[in-house]
Amino acid sequence: MTIKNTILITWGTGRLGKAFKKILPNALYPSRNDMDITNTHVVESYIKLHKPDIVIHLAALASIPKCEENKTLAWNTNVLATRNLVKISKKYWVKKFIYLQSACIFSWEDDFMYDEDSIPAPKHYYGLTKLVAEEIIKSYNSDIFQTIIARTNFTTMPWEYPKAFTDRYWTYLFAQWVAKGIEEIIDSNTTFPIIHICGEREISMYEYAQLWWSDIKPMTLADYDWPALTRNMSLLTKYWHTYKIEDSNYNDN
Ligand SMILES: NC(=O)c1ccc[n+]([C@@H]2O[C@H](COP(=O)([O-])OP(=O)(O)OC[C@H]3O[C@@H](n4cnc5c(N)ncnc54)[C@H](OP(=O)(O)O)[C@@H]3O)[C@@H](O)[C@H]2O)c1
Repeated sequence: MTIKNTILITWGTGRLGKAFKKILPNALYPSRNDMDITNTHVVESYIKLHKPDIVIHLAALASIPKCEENKTLAWNTNVLATRNLVKISKKYWVKKFIYLQSACIFSWEDDFMYDEDSIPAPKHYYGLTKLVAEEIIKSYNSDIFQTIIARTNFTTMPWEYPKAFTDRYWTYLFAQWVAKGIEEIIDSNTTFPIIHICGEREISMYEYAQLWWSDIKPMTLADYDWPALTRNMSLLTKYWHTYKIEDSNYNDN
């Protein structure tokens, strides 16, 4: 790791935040108690005090059902708090602002794979709030304040379920590969404004789960009737390299 800058990672106690702690142990990781991102004064005081060079923004209301149930909280957390954070970051001379973006901004039509230039069309409120935040962040991009939207899909390990679909496909990575990908993006000094961090090939969820549980039980979409599930959740990248999913055999605990 060649990063020498002060890095601030908004994380609370999140799944991806825990993976970042292993890859970037010296970064600042304010919890919600240290820096509630919806409190503008607290965010400004924290950034003014710690003077980060790089902000990696993870904190969000990242649950699809919770965003549907409480749209006010979702909007305040994912949109308004992000807008304040990016504005304050620029004001206090942060050089790079990296936003972890969900692939839920896409509509996931069957058999379509989405790259950085694909048109977003979120199907639910979580995806909508993340998309609005992305557009706000992009509008701040400049030569002295670089913004990068890093879109990805990940799971933590161990695999949480007794079965896995043999006929649903994705390019998901384990969380620590995503954190590693962000570290590489920072190190590379790339200026691409949107980057997809994804696996090198689409694999079935069953094959993926087997990387962790070799005796995982198979199931198919025919075994499952509600809610409607997306058959393929694979991302492509035009501007970054892909990751060999089998190599990402980390333990997230
Ligand atoms: N899961 C995926 O596959 C995926 C894919 C791409 C991008 N992302 C994005 O990656 C980021 C992290 O996702 P995740 O799955 O790790 O989510 P997560 O486990 O739900 O973590 C989100 C974190 O945000 C914190 N948070 C929420 N509101 C806050 C507030 N007002 N102030 C401070 N912290 C607050 C939460 O803190 P508390 O613990 O205190 O509630 C929690 O620790 C999100 O931006 C998500 O949209 C996720």
